[in-house]
Amino acid sequence: MFARVYAAAALVALGTTAAAQDAPFGSDTDQDYAADLWAAMEEDGLIGPDAPVIFPYAGTEPHGFQLSTLYTTATVDGHEGVLVIKNNYGPSGVSADEVVTDPQGHLAAVTVMFKRAEGYDDETGNWFYAKYLKDGALDRNPAGMALAGLVGKNADAGCIACHQNAGGGDYLFTTDADLSETLTMAD
Ligand code: HEC
Repeated sequence: MFARVYAAAALVALGTTAAAQDAPFGSDTDQDYAADLWAAMEEDGLIGPDAPVIFPYAGTEPHGFQLSTLYTTATVDGHEGVLVIKNNYGPSGVSADEVVTDPQGHLAAVTVMFKRAEGYDDETGNWFYAKYLKDGALDRNPAGMALAGLVGKNADAGCIACHQNAGGGDYLFTTDADLSETLTMAD
């Protein structure tokens, strides 16, 4: 009887590990890349206490109660790409004025999409997704996997599962503009 219980527990554990290994995100490589991206954003003054304060607007779940969206570019490991930063502010009921008064104090998460080189994942537009807490640590899903990489690809939930419905085929909700045309790239 005990043996059967243990066997069942072992199966559950195996299932979890297999799922984590198959997932297209959260690997050490994804986490390292996310750390490099955070460092690039910090160096460019796009995040942290010295970042410009952007007037926020009322948000929708899952992103937060007040949001700001910034379009720019960043260079990571020698590749320059379009970078979209969404600051997620809370708690529930927070006003835009309160956020402007103390942006860092109300920052719940920083979610980003960074356009990687062709061939990264052409099928989903080569966007790299990451969700950071305000100190730069990656947020994790309930299974403990770091939210960096192709989060939600071929899944029912997660960044890509939702962003693939954004319209325009570009995975962006806020705009269908071709940001690679809008933003000046080095080459
Ligand atoms: C259930 C749906 C959903 C999920 C899951 C989701 N998002 Fe979003 N996301 C949205 C919506 C809706 C917007 C537009 C919000 C607004 O009005 O600014 C958005 C906007 C964004 C933007 C600004 C670019 C754009 O699409 O216009 C970024 C960056 C972003 N999300 C990153 C992420 C990351 C990273 C994750 C996963 C950790 C994630 N999102 C998960 C719905 C979702």
